[in-house]
Amino acid sequence: MLTQIKTLAAEFAPRLIEIRRHLHSHPELSGQEYQTAAYVAGVLSSCGLQVREAVGKTGVVGELKRGECPPQWLAIRTDMDALPITEQTGLDFSSRQTGVMHACGHDVHTTVGLGTAMVLASLGEQFAGAVRFLFQPAEEIAQGAGWMVADGVMQSVAAILSLHVFPSIPAGTIGIRYGALTAAADDLELTIIGESGHGARPHEAIDAIWIASQVITSLQQAISRTQNPLRPVVLTIGKISGGRAPNVIADKVEMVGTVRSLHPETHAQLPAWIEQIVASVCQSYGARYELHYRRGVPSVQNDPLLTQLLESAAKDAWGPDQVQVLLEPSLGAEDFALFLEHAPGTMFRLGVGYPDRPNHPLHHPQFEVDERAIVTGVVTLAYTACQYWQQLLAHPETRRSRESRDSET
Ligand code: NI
Repeated sequence: MLTQIKTLAAEFAPRLIEIRRHLHSHPELSGQEYQTAAYVAGVLSSCGLQVREAVGKTGVVGELKRGECPPQWLAIRTDMDALPITEQTGLDFSSRQTGVMHACGHDVHTTVGLGTAMVLASLGEQFAGAVRFLFQPAEEIAQGAGWMVADGVMQSVAAILSLHVFPSIPAGTIGIRYGALTAAADDLELTIIGESGHGARPHEAIDAIWIASQVITSLQQAISRTQNPLRPVVLTIGKISGGRAPNVIADKVEMVGTVRSLHPETHAQLPAWIEQIVASVCQSYGARYELHYRRGVPSVQNDPLLTQLLESAAKDAWGPDQVQVLLEPSLGAEDFALFLEHAPGTMFRLGVGYPDRPNHPLHHPQFEVDERAIVTGVVTLAYTACQYWQQLLAHPETRRSRESRDSET
């Protein structure tokens, strides 16, 4: 089976590179993936999958069901959107859309999703199982996963797999991670309201700029002194504005920021904890405040059993040296976490780095990928999907225990 998957992936490789380059040169921003979605739907239909378009706004779902299997799905999720960045790679298949670029590798993700569908569809009778491919829009604005979930794509899904490219791992290698892979990411908007006055007479005013600086300092100090250092919290105020003139005390300061955390318990207590610090500083100096705390996506927590399955499939496919077990999570965020609220799953990092030259990070205008990684991603996902169904069909009791566990939680 593995040999056949590898042979098929190698046969499809030139076509997959063509697909990836097409997607790369036609990037679309979050929520506007119309051409991408139509293109994806076309490829999926040509492989004989059942295709639904406009799922979760611009998302696409392709379903492949072969043989006798229980009424449930293994989902494979890839995202399709690009970023508002002007490409500077100089590649001959560079973005044709000024100011829009696939700088986060979602063109590769989409291609790997399509390649996996092509390979599994070409296995014929050898593959028994049901795979639902989710091509998700708007990951960069952390909205698309929620749109797709609201449209019911997680119904009857028993497990879900996904991937993200990673330039600091060389192409041909994948990174897996047990437990937390990415952070919960929340946003805050905070306005400090003081009272204006003459710059020379601070005692007659309430200086919103100075109080804002106290609030920021107190928050950073409180993180280091009152949060468990083994459960990290990062708070970044990314934008601040206030004041009118050098000799006028500002009556209002507005700031916006992002709050990252890994541990679900920490995440749960953050809004109240932050408000308490803001309130106590403002109260000390007679200011008022308005705080809008918005919960964003939770942390991606990889399921141990599925991660184990992925690890052993990837090691079979590529050898143990090509599979890195990642010791550290990232404080980046991923809306894949929203699918995980409905089924266990695992997301891996697909190495796309060139071994012999420096690699630019994700979201960089010169970000490039070593396209050999596409076959690595396709084989890893296709073989993991086969192993998943083989084990499930051979040991249906695994499924029962997972179902009973789900009903308990
Ligand atoms: Ni991304």
